[in-house]
This record gives sequence, C-alpha cells and structure tokens, in this order.
Amino acid sequence: MSGKQNGAVQGARKNEFRRLRLEGVSRQFGGANALDKLSLTIERGEFVALLGPSGCGKSTALNCMAGLLPLTDGSIWLDEQRIDPLPPEKRGFGMVFQNYALFPHLSVSHNVGFGLKMRGVPAKEIERRVAAALDTVQLQAHASKLPGQLSGGQQQRVAIARGLSLSPR
Ligand SMILES: Nc1ncnc2c1ncn2[C@@H]1O[C@H](COP(=O)(O)OP(=O)(O)O)[C@@H](O)[C@H]1O
Ligand SMILES: [Mg+2]
Repeated sequence: MSGKQNGAVQGARKNEFRRLRLEGVSRQFGGANALDKLSLTIERGEFVALLGPSGCGKSTALNCMAGLLPLTDGSIWLDEQRIDPLPPEKRGFGMVFQNYALFPHLSVSHNVGFGLKMRGVPAKEIERRVAAALDTVQLQAHASKLPGQLSGGQQQRVAIARGLSLSPR
C-alpha cells in the first residue's frame, strides 16, 4: 500500500507495536472453561489465524484481546504495557465482526465514521479519514448507500473500513 494512498494506515504507523503477548489467558462462563490458559506471542507484521472446531474458544480469545470480555485469569501485553485492564477504546485495536455488525440505518460513510464521531474528532477530519478508509477498500462509489443495499462482500469491506478508520495500532 503506497503511503499517499491511505491516511488511515499512515496514522497507524505512528503508534505501532513490536509484540502482542498473551500469558495464560483464561475465561470461564459459569464455571466452564471457554478458554484455558492460552499463551501466544505475535510479532509485528505477522499474520496469524486461530483455527479450531466450533466452540473451542477462538471468538472468546479475540473478545478478550479486544477488551469486550474480561479475563478470569492471565494477562495480555503490548510490548511492556499490560493492556488487559484497559477498556476497548484505550487498546487501539480494530475489530471486524463475523456478522459485520453494521448499523442498518446509517449510510456506509456514517458507519465508517461512527467511531471517530464518538471520539469527538472534528467533522473535516472525519470526512478525510472516512474517504481514506473507503479508498482502501474501494467503496468510494457506495459511500451514501445503506448496508442493506450492498452485497455481502461489500458489507464486509465496510466493516473493514470501519476498523481501519480508527487507525488501530
Ligand atoms: N457469553 C457466553 N456465555 C456462556 N458461554 C459462552 C459465552 N460465549 C461463549 N461461550 C461458550 O464458550 C465456548 C467457546 O465459545 P467461542 O469462543 O464462541 O467458540 P469459537 O471457537 O467457535 O469462536 C463455547 O462452549 C461457548 O458455548
Ligand atoms: Mg467464533
């Protein structure tokens, strides 16, 4: 991806990390282990997939990393910073949900800019970053449509653009 092409990704370079580390991450639901002592180190630039049968704890692991689910044991580190006590918005992660979780009543642009608006980013800056993120996923021509007017693959790209717009590290 060229530098000038994408402001959202450029923003991400400023606060990138070297290493994400999970140490004995566990999560129980009502006494049952959904995730049992997962330890894993991911270096910057690595592309990692979690594979396993349905119900083995993949989504639980991702939700723990993103901060949507508190751990029952273990810790999560970004370089030297322990991040598992931080709320999701302080972790600088992007997330694309399996079902996309788009807001059906908001246009593509408003979906992508939603997180920026919630963070009080000025309108002009939101416009710029939404345009950059839509450019990355090649959806500029669909900016004013509603999610229901898009194909499944296009909806998935809206969800990716929404994740990118926040410049996740
Ligand atoms: N909110 C919840 N309450 C109770 N049990 C849950 C909850 N979320 C997940 N589980 C259970 O935890 C286990 C792991 O689920 P999950 O991480 O969603 O699996 P997958 O690897 O398919 O993504 C499953 O047995 C699931 O039923
Ligand atoms: Mg899952």
